[in-house]
Order: sequence, then C-alpha cells, then structure tokens
Amino acid sequence: MEKLEVIGAKRLKGNISISGSKNSSLPILAGTLLSNKKVRILNLPKVKDIETMLLLLRSLGSKIKFNKKNKSVDIHNSKNIKTYVSYNLVKTMRAGILVLGPLLARFGKAKVSLPGGCAIGSRPVDIHLKALSKLGVKYKIIQGYIHAKAPKGLIGNVIKFPKISVGATENLIIAASFAKGKTILRNCAIEPEIKDLINFLRKMGCNIKWTGQRTITIMGVQVLQNLKYKIMFDRIEAVTYMIASALTGGNLKIKNVKPKIISTEINILKRIGTKIKIKGNEINIVGKRKIKNIKLKTAPYPGFPTDLQAQLMVLLCKAEGRSEISEKIFENRFMHAPELNRMGAKIKIFGNKAIIEGNINFKAAELMATDLRASVSLILAALTAKGKSIINRIYHLDRGYEQIEKKLSNVGANIRRIS
Ligand code: UD1
Repeated sequence: MEKLEVIGAKRLKGNISISGSKNSSLPILAGTLLSNKKVRILNLPKVKDIETMLLLLRSLGSKIKFNKKNKSVDIHNSKNIKTYVSYNLVKTMRAGILVLGPLLARFGKAKVSLPGGCAIGSRPVDIHLKALSKLGVKYKIIQGYIHAKAPKGLIGNVIKFPKISVGATENLIIAASFAKGKTILRNCAIEPEIKDLINFLRKMGCNIKWTGQRTITIMGVQVLQNLKYKIMFDRIEAVTYMIASALTGGNLKIKNVKPKIISTEINILKRIGTKIKIKGNEINIVGKRKIKNIKLKTAPYPGFPTDLQAQLMVLLCKAEGRSEISEKIFENRFMHAPELNRMGAKIKIFGNKAIIEGNINFKAAELMATDLRASVSLILAALTAKGKSIINRIYHLDRGYEQIEKKLSNVGANIRRIS
C-alpha cells in the first residue's frame, strides 16, 4: 500500500496553483444527468472521488470523453440511462447519493444503494429522502437499497429543511429544477459550492432564484441546452496550503482563487498571526513566529468549515497558550487528535470540544490517516517536525487533494510517495 514520507522542518516558499473544487464538481457531475444535451466541464480536479463519480456515471450509461488539449471533460447522458447505482460505487464516496434527485426527476425511478458508513459520523440521508418525498417520491429501503419512484413525475412544493445540509440542498435543487411547477426550498445551505451548482444549472437552462438568505425558488423546466462550464476553485485546498505556509514560517503565493469566498478563513489566519496580502486572484501568506491562541467553532458557511478543522488544529498546537475548537457539524471528527498527540501535541477531547495546548514542537513519527482531512492534517504536522514521518493509508488523501506531493515539493517540502 502506498505511503507518504515527509522529512520536515523545511520553510515553504513559492507558488501553489489551486485545483477545481471537488465538492463543487460532485453535484455538478450528478446534475448533468438531468439533461440529454452535451455538457463540457472544465477545471475538474484529478482526484479519486471525481474518478469514482465518473465511474458511477459511466455505469449508468453516460458517454464521457476527456479532451487533453483544454483539460475538459465532455459528458453526454442521452436516452439510455440506467437508474441503478450499486453499493460498490457509493461505499467509498457518499456523494453518490446526489444522483438520486436527478434520476428521479428525469426518469421517475431509481434504485440507489445507501451510502456506506463513514469514519467521521453516522451521516444519514434522511433529510434528502424526506425532502424528495415532498416532491411526490415514494420510497422503501430494502436490503440497503433505496427503491424510489415518482409515478406522476416530480411535483413542486414548499420544503423547509429541518437542519442545514449541503448534500440535501444540492439534491433538491437538482431534482426541483426538472419538477412540474414551483418549488420553494427554505433553510438551505449556502456554501459557495451550492452557488456554483446553481450557476451551472442556470447555464443549462434551469430557472433558479435566491429569494431570501437561505431560500431558493425554482420553476421546473423541461428543455435544457448544451453548455460549457468551469468549476470554481477548491477553497479547502487553498486554505490547507495557507495553513502550511503559516506553520512553516513560509512565504506562499496561493493562485487561482477568489479571496472573497474565503474571507472568514483569511480573517482568522490574520487574527492568529500571519501576514496576508491579496492581489486579484492571488493570496500571499507569510508565516510569523508568534501564533495567537483562539476559541472557535465550526459552522455552516459563512462560518468556519468543518473540512478545515483538523488543519487549523495543527496550527493551534503552535500557538501561545490554550485554544479551543468545538466541532458542530459532525459527531466524530477528532480522529486526527490521537495521532497528533503521538507526535507530541497536547490535545484533549471532551465530547465535541477539543482543548489544544500550544507551544509544542511536533516530533516525526509513523502515522495512520483516518479520513480525508485528518490525513492532510498529519502531513501538515509532519512538515514542521524534524526528521522523517511516514503517513499510512493515504488513499484517504487521494480522494480530495490533487498532486499534493508535487505541489508541496515544488515549494520546498521534502515529501515523496513510497510503496
Ligand atoms: C458536505 C461536504 C463535506 C462537508 C459537509 C459539511 C461534499 C461532497 N461534502 O457533506 O465535505 O464536510 O458538507 O460542510 O460536498 N445530515 C443528516 N441527515 C441527512 C443529511 C445530513 O442528519 O440526510 C447531517 C450530517 O450527518 C451532518 C450534517 O447533517 O451532521 C451536515 O451534513 P451535510 O451538510 O449534509 O454534509 P454532506 O453534504 O454529506
């Protein structure tokens, strides 16, 4: 099995170009199922989750063609699309559930495996299913599969999500875009990836409007058009590298980003002690010697994202004094803490709260990654530790970070993949 070897304590300096957003690409790829026209997508990141989603689409009958010249992908979901998604395709990637909405909207039926369990929490799909049933979907769960149908087609309705869910908001936006009549979605997630999905669907011919801060009004349409669409930048990847710069006293230019989208994170990094300059689509971040401690909780956008909690925790291990992070989105998302403690960190977990003592020097170690963001936090810690660290189970990392070892070695890190 492949591992990463990191020899740390090197200052990072140079430019890192940010890839397309994984979490934007997944719902957009699912959204292509609504249309029988040709869709060209640019800026898809080359990561495992995207490969899995493309495999899933192929298994349904999508025609997918890569254009090497302009790094785009053409997708054509003409008539003969199947409506069955097997467990094998969703066991490693929960976002497979996002094809349920479009399949039901276009074909009136779908049999989709319930997604596999997940290390960071139970992650049910009840909100997706209850909301879809308000559009006229009838479903049963039999032996781990959702058997769903909409005999009269999907019919618009007013839906208030009981809790903010990124995936359920996406599934419903896509489904309602092809339903009969008007749908109003309340208490929606407003993550930038949702705005990207809406921009994509609008360009495809859907009629979607923001009618409140967390309210979306959709008029169903039946005819869609060919389109070409460029995926937004990966904000989690961008801030991960910003933290790498802060941690190593580095000087990185983070390129191809829209800084406004990550202003919460920029403000926090400024507050705890980094020098940040913004110029157009580029952020220059210089690490300072002193890092201040903070108290922070994760929250839906525009709050601080759960997907950056593990990375920030590594930085707070270097702060002066004690910090506190409350994880408000997932119930079991501190699995990086015991591994960081093995490297010398002093983190204590009390339920959904982590107390992080500062002023520590990480020591190199052999480590085990447990999920996508936890694995990158171990790399960050290893980058600051003197000596050689080995990170096992990096298949988690490959799900969401494009060419991480190349991007980091280009700016001076000593990191390589070994098997
Ligand atoms: C998405 C992101 C993930 C991020 C998360 C929260 C993608 C592909 N993944 O995941 O990286 O960490 O948002 O920002 O975009 N919940 C339910 N029932 C449901 C759905 C969700 O109880 O039917 C709960 C979840 O267990 C969790 C919370 O709601 O506690 C938020 O989850 P959700 O926003 O749906 O996350 P995902 O869309 O799965």
